[in-house]
Amino acid sequence: METPIEWSDDLLFHIDEIDDQHRNLFLLINRLIGHKRNHGPREELIDLLRVLVAFAQTHFRTEENHMTESHYPHALEHYEEHEEFTKCIHNFMGDYERGKEDLSDKMLTFLRHWWNTHVAKSDQTLARYLKEKGHPS
Ligand SMILES: [Fe+2]
Ligand SMILES: [Fe+2]
Repeated sequence: METPIEWSDDLLFHIDEIDDQHRNLFLLINRLIGHKRNHGPREELIDLLRVLVAFAQTHFRTEENHMTESHYPHALEHYEEHEEFTKCIHNFMGDYERGKEDLSDKMLTFLRHWWNTHVAKSDQTLARYLKEKGHPS
């Protein structure tokens, strides 16, 4: 549960802006995992989640701009996965701020699952499409 997620170059878009954003999201998720492992302070957890949400918004808008510009046929479902992520993290934050939960295994399971499904699969479907469309690196 508390082992870090792993980076793979199979996740690369070969679009620098997106790859940098994914690397940052990867680091942030591992900081959250480390926070849990080290029993870090609660305030730090909320700060990390705030950074994650803000950073994810920037990243999602970047991908969505690429989807719009390239007329990506699965844009709507991809967008909905982004919205779902934001909603879930806000729900977790709300729970913590109301003092309902500590950094739960549930949230780490969610982030791990999101990394392995959205980033590793849905994003890669988009990456292959953009590559076919001849997006310059
Ligand atoms: Fe992404
Ligand atoms: Fe995405």
